[in-house]
Amino acid sequence: MKINGKTKTCGLIGKPVEHTMSPTIHNTLAKKLGIDLVYVPFLVEQNLTAAVKGAYALNVLGMNVTVPYKSDVLKEICEVDSLAGQIGAVNTLVRVNGGYKGYNTDMTGLYRAMTGYGIKIEEEEVIILGAGGAARAVAYLCVHYGAKKVYILNRSVDKALSIAEEIRETTGKNCIEAMALQDYTKLSEEKKLCIQATSVGLSPNEEEAVIEEEAFYQKIHTGYDLIYRPTNTKFMQLVKAQGGQAYHGLKMLLYQGIEAFELWNQVQVSEALCDEVYEVMKGEMGIEE
Ligand code: ATR
Repeated sequence: MKINGKTKTCGLIGKPVEHTMSPTIHNTLAKKLGIDLVYVPFLVEQNLTAAVKGAYALNVLGMNVTVPYKSDVLKEICEVDSLAGQIGAVNTLVRVNGGYKGYNTDMTGLYRAMTGYGIKIEEEEVIILGAGGAARAVAYLCVHYGAKKVYILNRSVDKALSIAEEIRETTGKNCIEAMALQDYTKLSEEKKLCIQATSVGLSPNEEEAVIEEEAFYQKIHTGYDLIYRPTNTKFMQLVKAQGGQAYHGLKMLLYQGIEAFELWNQVQVSEALCDEVYEVMKGEMGIEE
């Protein structure tokens, strides 16, 4: 690419940043759309405040934020999107007058990935497996998009209970319930959407799923695993064995980037171009499916 005096800069702040896929996503998009923009990773060892202030002073157009700064960065921004504010985590900063506005495109990206697969949240009964940071954000997303009922199932039930209580308080909605994993037997037989948000099954522990009983998977019509390595997780195999549809999380990674790029550049990326970027990502990751 040719960099000149007008080239816009976007970047990623986090620690570590070495294995990120984001430069591939954004630099491919910029090239294919003919947008004069470069995207670079910035390792921020500790001084997040200086990093965000410095980025603004340097006229940086937008930033992605990754581990461990997604919550801390809220203190450094001048505005926050309502969903990101509720979740309490921001992964995208968009330059506005006087600072940056924060968004959570991890979640809007997940929503777009699911919509693309024809998966609906509105009026659905949703089971979320896990009660860590990812599960918590997914729970907010489901409530935000009008799920009829959200069940959070976790090994440590106290964590699921505290997320459910927090979401009831912040959203004023009562459609969320916490349970221990083994209590899935109490759920109705009506088939549900299930979002797998634990770290169980992640490479190299590919033979594991957080629940392995067939009886659980008979209650699932669609399974979405946030994990994308491997691309056919044990959870997905168990969903499919009972006749359900199952998807891995790589499209979520794609669309969190697409949505950030759209916010920075005020463009709409076509589905055909999203597919092209997806192919580039898969190639880089050595993934075929
Ligand atoms: P993240 O921020 O990515 O969500 P996390 O906060 O560490 O990561 O959450 C990991 C989730 O995976 C938790 O729900 C965890 O269950 P606990 O809250 O009971 O720890 C779940 N998890 C991890 N290993 C697990 C295992 N072997 N069996 C069941 N659940 C597991």
